[in-house]
Amino acid sequence: MDFEELSFTDVPLIKVTPPGPRSKEYLDYQSSHESSLVNYPKGIPMALRRAKGATVEDVDGNIYIDFFGGAGVMAVGHSNPEVIKAIEKQLVDLTHALDFPSPSRRMLVEALLRVLPKSLSRVFFGGPTGSDAVESAMKLAKYNTGRYPMIAFQGSFHGMTAGALSLCSGLYFKEDFLPLLPEVHFVPYGYCYRCALGKKPETCDLDCARYLDYILEDPHSGVGKPAAVIVESIQGEGGSIVPPEQFIPKIREICDKHEVLLIDDEIQAGFCRTGKMFACDHTGTIPDIMTMSKPLGGVGLPISAIAYKEELNTLPRGKHIGTFRSNVLACAAGAAALDFMLKNKLAEHALKVGELMLSMLKELEKDSKIVGEARGKGLMLGVEFVKDKTTKEPAPELATKVRTLCHRRGLLIEIGGHYSNVARFLPPLVITEELARKGIEIFADSVGDLERSL
Ligand SMILES: Cc1ncc(COP(=O)(O)O)c(C=O)c1O
Repeated sequence: MDFEELSFTDVPLIKVTPPGPRSKEYLDYQSSHESSLVNYPKGIPMALRRAKGATVEDVDGNIYIDFFGGAGVMAVGHSNPEVIKAIEKQLVDLTHALDFPSPSRRMLVEALLRVLPKSLSRVFFGGPTGSDAVESAMKLAKYNTGRYPMIAFQGSFHGMTAGALSLCSGLYFKEDFLPLLPEVHFVPYGYCYRCALGKKPETCDLDCARYLDYILEDPHSGVGKPAAVIVESIQGEGGSIVPPEQFIPKIREICDKHEVLLIDDEIQAGFCRTGKMFACDHTGTIPDIMTMSKPLGGVGLPISAIAYKEELNTLPRGKHIGTFRSNVLACAAGAAALDFMLKNKLAEHALKVGELMLSMLKELEKDSKIVGEARGKGLMLGVEFVKDKTTKEPAPELATKVRTLCHRRGLLIEIGGHYSNVARFLPPLVITEELARKGIEIFADSVGDLERSL
């Protein structure tokens, strides 16, 4: 398929500096009547009208290149026509079925089993968001091991429900709601740009991963034997962090040695995003349990799932139930989306376009005094802003300013990272090379203008 026809043409198109008058009206209404918790429009002030492929139109008629992709949901692109067709067909047949079997549910399970590692042979649909999948994975691990503690990584993000939130390392999300689950411990991730152990990649023997071995070994580590270790094979919200190649296999090896289950959270990195169907496929590492969501609903219909090994299939009937599990519309959408991904070799496309974008960003890293590191894999990219490249002092305010400059020029990006200083790119995977290049040029111009104004 020619991906070009999936997006609006002649983009970006800025008719009025955003937020335009109509967007402002929507934003004012929202802030007067909705909760103070509303988040994304505070960073990117706009109201959305429609979206196509890797492009988004606001209510003022501005059209943007979308490097945000609905926080990584839009793998097959906004309003993907094949997915929409599947939803329309399902819409007239059946829209709610609890966990009763149905043709679309069966199609999605079959589609998942085709792409998952063979040993992850059981699928469970949790509630509609990624957090629910994390809750299910944790319960499954605890039930099967009879153990309570959990180990997660610094820089992790696993969701906002109480259990999932306990596994997040970001204090901002947690500090006002303590206590959460006890016995959750955090260990360093393979974040070489800011190594927790002060090592350099050239002289380090995966010491961060070995630290996990050390705390599981040492009776005085203060950490009880956990039910599971939960990891993102490539970290998302932590700042698009790709760990050293042997990091995830080493974590697998350590989990096996200590008979601890390994949960791989693929909610953001999964479904072709990083250039493979799942991020763990880059190293051939197979977890015991995998969590999935975001692109699983095709064009943003909410659904989440876990896949796990046969021997863990012990939870008795109805011990973890809910009303909205595997919504049938989302199942139809998900099956069509998986079909689209395979038919159109979306993983290969993501890898190729991602390489082009990263090479342009690496040039920017070389030239710029405020870009500490450009990194990522496939179409999960990040640019870390610093005040000084030697001290690496984080510069969250620069990341925020760049996001605003990009928005005004017709490019949508998000911010994440340990210090909220990483510009994050998660474009729909159907983005063309031309749009990807244009987007990076807008980003680079914005960084350049900001740098000159400092
Ligand atoms: C890796 C990862 N896990 C879990 C979640 C939580 O998913 P949700 O926001 O749908 O609850 C996210 C969301 O960004 C995520 O990136």
